[in-house]
Amino acid sequence: MCVMCHGELAKQIATAKVQHPGAAGDCTDCHSPHASKTPGLPKTDAVNICLQCHADIAELAKKRNLHQPAFRQACGICHDAHGGERAKLLRAEGNQLCMQCHGTETVAKRVESEHVLTIFDGKVKLPEDYLVRNRPVRLNLRYGLGHPTAKHPVYDIRDPLDQSKIMTAINCLSCHQPHSSAAKGLLVKDQLANLQFCRTCHKGMIGGQ
Ligand code: HEC
Ligand code: HEC
Ligand code: HEC
Ligand code: HEC
Ligand code: HEC
Ligand code: HEC
Ligand code: HEC
Repeated sequence: MCVMCHGELAKQIATAKVQHPGAAGDCTDCHSPHASKTPGLPKTDAVNICLQCHADIAELAKKRNLHQPAFRQACGICHDAHGGERAKLLRAEGNQLCMQCHGTETVAKRVESEHVLTIFDGKVKLPEDYLVRNRPVRLNLRYGLGHPTAKHPVYDIRDPLDQSKIMTAINCLSCHQPHSSAAKGLLVKDQLANLQFCRTCHKGMIGGQ
């Protein structure tokens, strides 16, 4: 029935490079067939619609500290529910996923006619007041360095003589969980931001080194 008018989209779902088994059924598994108040509305809301099938992620919602976009906004911000190009249906490669909101340059574009902001090249819509309401912290990096301490690397360290060679792999997910954590800071394995955490990579670290 939906396919009658949304044929292109149905084709996209069926032919995506990385397909979402959750989209192999009916469109109405996620969408309400009736008009709704939320644009592009999923059946329940943009988080719970996913949690009904993803029990493992629903468990993560029980942790104390939730990442705003994941549990307070929409799972579809980072994942393309219709299928995509990357593993885990992620919308961007590596740190770029996080830098859409945590970079110093605002990538969000305002679409006046629809009263929305868009990120990921127009593919994701956010309410127009999203950034002023939620104020994601902007990381001030220079040449991929500067977080969580001055000059700390957050991008893979490459061989200066051969940029295709990664000498030490490091990215946002080396230290952070994307969905939630028991502690503030969303650090991996629910860790606290203390010296113990630094020591998981810097054995023998005493003070700041
Ligand atoms: C008679 C044609 C027609 C049928 C049938 C139809 N749609 Fe649509 N739909 C449209 C048009 C036209 C738009 C607006 C243009 C667009 O966003 O693509 C739209 C928009 C949408 C949107 C985006 C709404 C938004 O605010 O961004 C969703 C989601 C959607 N349709 C889902 C469905 C689902 C699910 C079905 C089946 C239950 C369905 N449509 C059946 C024509 C149709
Ligand atoms: C009707 C059930 C259903 C719904 C609704 C659903 N999914 Fe899925 N999803 C699945 C199944 C089944 C798989 C494949 C098995 C798995 O990895 O859990 C899957 C896989 C995924 C994967 C890839 C997991 C991996 O390890 O590669 C992601 C990411 C994902 N879904 C995100 C979402 C998001 C975001 C939503 C909501 C917009 C959603 N899903 C809604 C059933 C569903
Ligand atoms: C697993 C859940 C899921 C299923 C199944 C699903 N969608 Fe969606 N759809 C979403 C989510 C989440 C969004 C909003 C965020 C986004 O664009 O990814 C969306 C957005 C849309 C939009 C508006 C944005 C756009 O891409 O044009 C349309 C139209 C749409 N869906 C139609 C369909 C149709 C038609 C089907 C069935 C052939 C379908 N969807 C199946 C989750 C789903
Ligand atoms: C801020 C971006 C972001 C949001 C929002 C987000 N995810 Fe994820 N998700 C990720 C990343 C990044 C990974 C890959 C983690 C990895 O590879 O270690 C992931 C992985 C997954 C997986 C694969 C299993 C796993 O744990 O690796 C599923 C399923 C999933 N997410 C579902 C969801 C659901 C459901 C929601 C909404 C409640 C959601 N995601 C919201 C970024 C996000
Ligand atoms: C759609 C925008 C958006 C994207 C994409 C996004 N975030 Fe966030 N993030 C936010 C918002 C909003 C907050 C809440 C701001 C606050 O707590 O002050 C936040 C908070 C955080 C925090 C602080 C949480 C705390 O407990 O203090 C961390 C860490 C974080 N994000 C990491 C990431 C990582 C890693 C990624 C990529 C996997 C990512 N973010 C992608 C919007 C985003
Ligand atoms: C080497 C580990 C490490 C890496 C890599 C890393 N972070 Fe962090 N991040 C931390 C620590 C430690 C904190 C402090 C948490 C606290 O104080 O609660 C933090 C805090 C944050 C915060 C909250 C800042 C605030 O002032 O409240 C955000 C947002 C954030 N990180 C995003 C990112 C993003 C995006 C990336 C990838 C570009 C990234 N981080 C890479 C370790 C790291
Ligand atoms: C995920 C692993 C990881 C964690 C966790 C981590 N670091 Fe690092 N850190 C690195 C890597 C990789 C380098 C670069 C080492 C190199 O150049 O070979 C580095 C370099 C450094 C440097 C030297 C940077 C410079 O000025 O040249 C300092 C200082 C440092 N880390 C402090 C910390 C502190 C403090 C913490 C805890 C808040 C921490 N690190 C947590 C991986 C990590």
